[in-house]
Amino acid sequence: MPKKIGDKDRYLQIIEAMGEGVLLISRKHRIALSNRSAEEMLGWNEPLKGKAIGSVFSKSALEEMVDKVFSDGKQRKMRITSYRRATGSEAVVRGKGRERQYEFCLTLLDDKYAVATFSDITMLGRLEIVRQDFVSNVSHELKTPLTAIAGFAETLAEEDLTESEMRSFARIILKNSTHMQRIIADLLLLTSLDRAEIAPTMEITTDTKILQEVKAYTQYKAETKEISVSYTPSDCEVLCNESLIVQAVMNLVINAISYSPAKAEVIVRTKRKDDKLEFIVADSGFGIAEEDIPRIFERFYRADKARSRESGGTGLGLSIVRHIAIIHRGTIKAESTIGKGSTFTLAIPIS
Ligand SMILES: Nc1ncnc2c1ncn2[C@@H]1O[C@H](COP(=O)(O)OP(=O)(O)O)[C@@H](O)[C@H]1O
Ligand SMILES: [Mg+2]
Repeated sequence: MPKKIGDKDRYLQIIEAMGEGVLLISRKHRIALSNRSAEEMLGWNEPLKGKAIGSVFSKSALEEMVDKVFSDGKQRKMRITSYRRATGSEAVVRGKGRERQYEFCLTLLDDKYAVATFSDITMLGRLEIVRQDFVSNVSHELKTPLTAIAGFAETLAEEDLTESEMRSFARIILKNSTHMQRIIADLLLLTSLDRAEIAPTMEITTDTKILQEVKAYTQYKAETKEISVSYTPSDCEVLCNESLIVQAVMNLVINAISYSPAKAEVIVRTKRKDDKLEFIVADSGFGIAEEDIPRIFERFYRADKARSRESGGTGLGLSIVRHIAIIHRGTIKAESTIGKGSTFTLAIPIS
């Protein structure tokens, strides 16, 4: 007959199976029990039983918290930053991203022990930083044109101006409000892309049709800079969200035009590669410095601030392209040499 599991063993099994880390800590700061999750999250391959918490956590915050809980018996919650111990192959990349944030809850059990449960919230912390940066960037990007609008509107309202002055100020107001509208339209598009990540509507179309539309939307911009853009589709059928792919390729073409000198040439073509279709946009313009390339797909990141402002860009074009690539389970790649030009390749599965 199989041995019946006793209650005590069952409780130990449950503690061992928990996704949260569990530590039983003595008044003297020693660990009396630990579960697998605790060991994993802290980067130890061995039970922590018998170790002092000071030798497991890199900062003394937890020791202070333990003392407080033993002195007044009140439950405490706290975020603790500590270094995760490098294990196995991680040990080779020492010091890289090992600082982790843990959220702790410490409860007094009796006069000898307190129990700590904790989870690793490093990723949440990073997301929070991204969110805060994003809000501050948006505010900044909107503030600049709004300040210009308010300033010129005030002059129009308060001062005696000639008709030509009035017109020129009104034009400045118009230009800045158009820019704000563009930022807001791009932000709304990014938000809707965030939501659509699960299921965008797909249809069968051809690269020829996509490039025709891109051409129609960008012709005006190319003509103002006397830039000739050549389009060479490979007449391939593809399953995608057509308007999103048009949007993505259009953003790449507008960048190619914006970041090239007048009268330059831009080449747009597609290429079938295995089960993928590549949209390739190549320019021989100003190029991008090597260290900027990994960052240009971030929201509001600009390699060349002055030029980007002049071009009327919102700083969101490439992050929109990246989102559209992800939604299609595709990729976006940039190759560039400063002074020589850039090539962007958007690849999506054909079906
Ligand atoms: N074809 C290109 N040639 C040179 N630089 C480019 C090109 N495309 C993008 N960049 C750089 O990447 C930055 C981000 O691009 P994007 O997200 O479209 O924003 P922007 O609104 O500034 O064009 C640009 O500000 C520019 O510095
Ligand atoms: Mg752009």
